[in-house]
Amino acid sequence: MDIDLIKKRLKEMLGEERLEHSVNTSKVARKLAIKYGYDAGKAEVAGLLHDCAKDLDYKTLEKVVLEYNIELDEIIRKIPKLLHPLVGAVIAKKEFNIQDPVILKAIKAHSTGVAQMSLLDKIIYLSDKIEPLRNMDGVEEVRKMAEIDLDRAVLMALDKGLLYLISKGSLIHPVSVEARNNILSKVVFV
Ligand SMILES: [Fe+2]
Ligand SMILES: [Fe+2]
Repeated sequence: MDIDLIKKRLKEMLGEERLEHSVNTSKVARKLAIKYGYDAGKAEVAGLLHDCAKDLDYKTLEKVVLEYNIELDEIIRKIPKLLHPLVGAVIAKKEFNIQDPVILKAIKAHSTGVAQMSLLDKIIYLSDKIEPLRNMDGVEEVRKMAEIDLDRAVLMALDKGLLYLISKGSLIHPVSVEARNNILSKVVFV
């Protein structure tokens, strides 16, 4: 499916703000891909589709989970917000005909991160957090780091995400801790 068709279809699935966030994410992802030597077209597609399931109601999310036997762990069952990346990957495959497992994995990993992050996983994780509409505390610092060092920028974004969850008394998915440990080991303990 070409980019214009994806955008057209997404328009029917997402609210205005979410669509803008998705387009922004895809633009940042494209730029980061060019900077860090990844396929810009794939990054653009993954960025556009990463939140394709985010505006579905809980009932529909549950239906897709059951229909496609999406495996849910104990933590995801307790945090419905974490369903949209998993359902999003299925919708990207079934409705947008995205067959590339690397793109599908990046969509799956965009919210929690994943223990072993591929280059595209990092690009999408980061683009989602730093696109121009994002205004979390310290986002400017992460944007600047994204210009210099991708791993350090992802580490900063993971840290900020984890600190936020702790401040809210929220559960933390263990893969986020694994992702942080792996990237931290790479950038600090070398
Ligand atoms: Fe998301
Ligand atoms: Fe997003």
